[in-house]
Amino acid sequence: MYYLLLCFVSCACAQSIFYESYTGNVLNNEEVKEHLKKNTAFWCVNEVLPCNPYEGRRLDGTCNNLKYPNRGAPHTPQYRLLPAEYDKDFEPKTAKSGEPLPLSRSVRTNLLAEGRVPDSRFTQLLTYFWAHVLRDVLSAHDTLKYVIWKPYCCQEKGETDKECIPNIIPDDDPVHRFSSVRCMNLTRPESFQSVGCLKNDTVPERIVTSTPIFDLSQMYGTSLKIANEKARLFEKGMLKFEVENGKLWPPSTKTPVNVCLSNQKPYEKRCHDTPDEGVNSVIGLNLFVTWTWRLHNRIATTLSELNPCWDDDRLFFTTRDIVIAITMQIYFYEMSPALMGFDNLVREGVISPHKEFRDIYDENIVPQVSLEFPAVQRWAHTIQEGKLMMYDANGNYLKEHRIVNMTLRTGYLVDNLEYITQGAFRQPAAKADYIIDPDVVQTGLGANQLSADIATSDLTKNRYFGFAPYIKYRKLCSGKTYSTFEDLIDVIDPERIELLKEKYKNVEDIDLMAGIWAEKLVKGGSVPVTLYCVVVEQMLRTVVSDRHWYERPNRPNAFSLEQLLEIRKASVAQFMCAVGDTVTEIQPHAFFLPGKGNKMCSCKDIQKINLSPWKDLSCNGKQNKKYEI
Ligand SMILES: *[C@@H]1O[C@H](CO)[C@@H](O)[C@H](O)[C@H]1NC(C)=O
Ligand SMILES: *[C@@H]1O[C@H](CO)[C@@H](O)[C@H](O)[C@H]1NC(C)=O
Ligand SMILES: *[C@@H]1O[C@H](CO)[C@@H](O)[C@H](O)[C@H]1NC(C)=O
Repeated sequence: MYYLLLCFVSCACAQSIFYESYTGNVLNNEEVKEHLKKNTAFWCVNEVLPCNPYEGRRLDGTCNNLKYPNRGAPHTPQYRLLPAEYDKDFEPKTAKSGEPLPLSRSVRTNLLAEGRVPDSRFTQLLTYFWAHVLRDVLSAHDTLKYVIWKPYCCQEKGETDKECIPNIIPDDDPVHRFSSVRCMNLTRPESFQSVGCLKNDTVPERIVTSTPIFDLSQMYGTSLKIANEKARLFEKGMLKFEVENGKLWPPSTKTPVNVCLSNQKPYEKRCHDTPDEGVNSVIGLNLFVTWTWRLHNRIATTLSELNPCWDDDRLFFTTRDIVIAITMQIYFYEMSPALMGFDNLVREGVISPHKEFRDIYDENIVPQVSLEFPAVQRWAHTIQEGKLMMYDANGNYLKEHRIVNMTLRTGYLVDNLEYITQGAFRQPAAKADYIIDPDVVQTGLGANQLSADIATSDLTKNRYFGFAPYIKYRKLCSGKTYSTFEDLIDVIDPERIELLKEKYKNVEDIDLMAGIWAEKLVKGGSVPVTLYCVVVEQMLRTVVSDRHWYERPNRPNAFSLEQLLEIRKASVAQFMCAVGDTVTEIQPHAFFLPGKGNKMCSCKDIQKINLSPWKDLSCNGKQNKKYEI
């Protein structure tokens, strides 16, 4: 926010071009001044240094698309798969009958029973990695808004604040009929309107602070300035780090008041002070950022040994490129096939069946994330296990803790990281079975709220995003028209159609999230059919629209084929062996539980990535050892 101002006022960066973040139109000096005066420049203006087609991936995502330079930057709009549908004043639409839609909470309790059933295939590690990759294109402000900034939504003050949209709990609620909780805090998602970029009489459009590109925003931040201040060590391309308990950690905050609200004082102190302090939130994200932080430094130091003549800048940017590529290789070629089916994804063109380069870039498609993409994946809360089980390195069970109590509690990791790490690939995720863990829907935010039902909020937000009815998404995905509840039989079992009928009067009333909760899983995969459809659309768009996509041979500083073939060897098991505490043995497919065909083996037997293809001959360095990670 400040750098933009500085830059403009001092004219130090006179060559910068300013774009309106929403429209992508160039702004003249008067218009920029107007935003500075109104204090809206941070959200509504993107400052872009002139694009150079040979430059690599920028931290702030600008110039990814050379025709539309601000697209790819933070605070640019998400696109909608289907046009928004709201009632008047952009309030949630009513049911077909004109009545309000059923309470979100009552839809949730009707469709998703509370209980615990472990899965027989997937590990916790999968849910952790899922949270990590999604966070790359999101921001934390929609949670902070009702927990910290506007904590009064269930009080009298909330009634007069339009931003408050608390969930009402009915008197006959299966859980809260025994408590006095009749309201759960919630606020409207931040939008271009709420931050002052668009007039309030226009269709609300969500605004997020990450880049809409998979570039590890949660690690490196969203501008060169932030990365330089908060992340880079300026030595051998490494990230700043601290050593505590003999382990390497991201830097931590020195101030006593910090976002780690759940640290048990005075003993638990650690709180990550990285470009995105939101990494201290859910544990899966916190773990993967900590591990990936280490991976970055391992790769950077290995490259600096391999190429002693490279300077810090070159080491940093090359390492970042490799770390992003490894993360995407695991996301596209390991996690997504596990969830959605390898053959399905090859058929859709999301992944390539070959190891060589692939290039389906289209400069006419700008880098963007659909509004529906993160929203439908909140289904993953139904396979989130509420218990966090901890093991020693030999697989002996030690203890357990509630996972919701780990949110905003980085301090707990200091003494327990190795046991949590071991548990990550030994403990099952929860089964995809229309049952949700009680903690996720009763105390979803741990001690930060008396009671929070994450799934109910997921549904409510659909309505405030103005999502079209579920059956319109069905039509988008299958081409089929659905006009009665019975038509849904191809995607929803009869007993769950019955449950939907109990809450919705008309098939057109069904909310997107509710439909997805009730759906059957896709053939050959383990996710609901509409989630599958929305995610496939996004993954394809990502490969098509990201000019710096790692599989492309025609991008600035592209990998050589030899280098790409090393990236292809990445696996989450190899990742855990490289950076996980005390991980000396693991199953080769670590998103799946160990067992027949996936037996635990020594890390020595897990395929490694060899960095030798990154050797720069002009450095005249010796090559006398293996540069494996
Ligand atoms: C729209 O309303 C919000 C409050 O809900 C306010 O903060 C914001 O400044 C308004 N936007 C404009 C452009 O007036
Ligand atoms: C977890 O947090 C809850 C508050 O939501 C608290 O009552 C409970 O004692 C905590 N449990 C543990 C094991 O720390
Ligand atoms: C809503 O927030 C207020 C203020 O933080 C808190 O006192 C109240 O317990 C919260 N409600 C629930 C149901 O957690």
